[in-house]
This record gives sequence, structure tokens and C-alpha cells, in this order.
Amino acid sequence: MFFPEEYDILISDAEYKDIADLVYKWSGINLGVNKKALVKTRLLKRIRYYNFKSFEEYYAYLRDESHKEELVEFINAISTNVTSFFREEKHFKILAESVLPDIVQRKDKEESNKIRIWSCACATGEEVYSILITLAEYLKDLSAWDIKVLGTDISLKVLAYAKEGVYDIDKVKNMPPLLLSKYFDEGWQGNNRFYRVKDSLREKAVFARLNLMDKVFPFSSRPDVIFCRNVMIYFDNKTKRDLVKKIYDCLDKKGYLFTGHAENLLGMDAGFKNIAPAVYKKIGGN
Ligand SMILES: C[S@@+](CC[C@H](N)C(=O)[O-])C[C@H]1O[C@@H](n2cnc3c(N)ncnc32)[C@H](O)[C@@H]1O
Repeated sequence: MFFPEEYDILISDAEYKDIADLVYKWSGINLGVNKKALVKTRLLKRIRYYNFKSFEEYYAYLRDESHKEELVEFINAISTNVTSFFREEKHFKILAESVLPDIVQRKDKEESNKIRIWSCACATGEEVYSILITLAEYLKDLSAWDIKVLGTDISLKVLAYAKEGVYDIDKVKNMPPLLLSKYFDEGWQGNNRFYRVKDSLREKAVFARLNLMDKVFPFSSRPDVIFCRNVMIYFDNKTKRDLVKKIYDCLDKKGYLFTGHAENLLGMDAGFKNIAPAVYKKIGGN
């Protein structure tokens, strides 16, 4: 008697190329030539789920128009969703000490109390809640403001997690205890302790699916700040350039862009001024 997981299914170079091309077409993620082992590990679950005998069979299934819903699972399986609260911590210091004071000053002049921030590859939501905690700490009384932080991602799986706002103890272990007790409710499920973002913060977060490869980003209010961190590393130069142009176009005219520290706009002439490592301010435009 065999358990199906014991069957190894090999992936040929040609199968890998077909799959990598499909990933690129649907998500812009450029796998390159070295990710064969990773792709194999990540897709085996899908292949076993359908009882397919080869990657070729799975690829044919994906190409069939009537199986479009599997494309979502396919991209979910491939994408890397690693994130954490206050990742690249200095960014949140800059947000609090430079970016927010500038935005508040401008909003005062415009007699507006509206702040919109977009985390455009938010994974399981830690980035969105870290932004909201920073806003709450800096602005003190959030009720005086009309604030929304939008978190989007290509993966529905991570978005469902983000919406719940429930994290196990491992995910919050580096959070200062004061912030943890102020912004999270503690709960137990059996022997497992978990932390849920308080409703007062969660109600200011909005989550939706958005593919960064979409031609335009449909905003009714332009974001004052965009966090586009640790996603451009998966894109090739052309995809990255196109994305930065779309971000520039939809950002408020004096808005800010945060990128991952391994990503930069060097040599891009994209209409941004670099004000701190991986932090940019829009110049020109409207
Ligand atoms: C490594 S996580 C980054 C999370 C967070 N921004 C951070 O810095 O911690 C990358 C996220 O990008 C998402 N992603 C990849 N391609 C995308 C696309 N074309 N459109 C939207 N999201 C995408 C993945 O699903 C994943 O959740």
C-alpha cells in the first residue's frame, strides 16, 4: 500500500519553462532559471490534490479556460508571503518622524482630515497593522482623522488571513509589550495563545485583491503614501519600471513611496526624490 505523497514527480526543463512563463504572464514574477526545485516543492501539493501524474498534466489543466479558478491557487502556491510586524523597522520611524508630520501640516493647510495609505503587496497584513499602529502612536487621537489603510495582494489566501487580523505568539514575539497590550486582544484556542488586532484598528484597514500587473490602479482617493516593499525583487526591470510609473501616476502629488531595502529606483528617472534609504517623495506631476 502506498501513500500518494511517496510518489516523486519530476519536472523537466521544458515543463519548468512553461510554468515559469505562465507565472510571469499572470503575476509578473520572474522566476528565472534557478527556481526549479522551489517550483516543484510548491506545486506538488496542487498536483497531488488533482492526482495528476506529471507537471505537464497540471500545466494543461491550467491552460484550459474553464479552469481559471485554479490559476489563483497556482499563483498562491508560487508566491512568497514572508513578512513580519515592523519589518525594516527604520521605515516606521521615518513614517512617524518625517512623513506624517509633513502630511499633517499639508492636511491642515488643505483643511482636510483624510489620510490614505496603500500597502500594495500586504501578504498576511502585518505591514498594514504596523502602519496603523504607527499612525495611532503618532496622531494620538485617530478619531479626529478619516484614516484608511488599504492592503492589497494577488493572493486571496493571505488576504483572508490579513482580514482576520489574528496572529499566533511567534508572530508578535518581537513587538514591544506596551504596543502588544494596547493594540491586540489576547485569546486562547485550546493550548494556543493568539493575538487579535483590536477592532478600533481593524476597522481602519481595508483588504482587497489587486494584481500589480493590472493596467491601471482604480483609486477614488489618491494615496498619500504607498508601501511597495519586497515584491519588486521578484520582477524583471521592465515590469518594475512599469509598476513604478503606475505608482507615480496614482500617488498624491506630494506623496511618499516606501520600497524594500533590496529594491531601489536607481537609474530610473521616475519622478521621485530619494529622502532616506528606500523612501521616496514624489516630485512634479499632478
Ligand atoms: C514577500 S511578501 C511582502 C510583504 C510585505 N510587503 C513586506 O515587505 O513584508 C510579497 C507579496 O507580494 C505578493 N505579490 C506577488 N506578485 C504580486 C502581484 N503581481 N500583485 C500583487 N501582489 C503580488 C505576494 O503574494 C506576497 O504576499
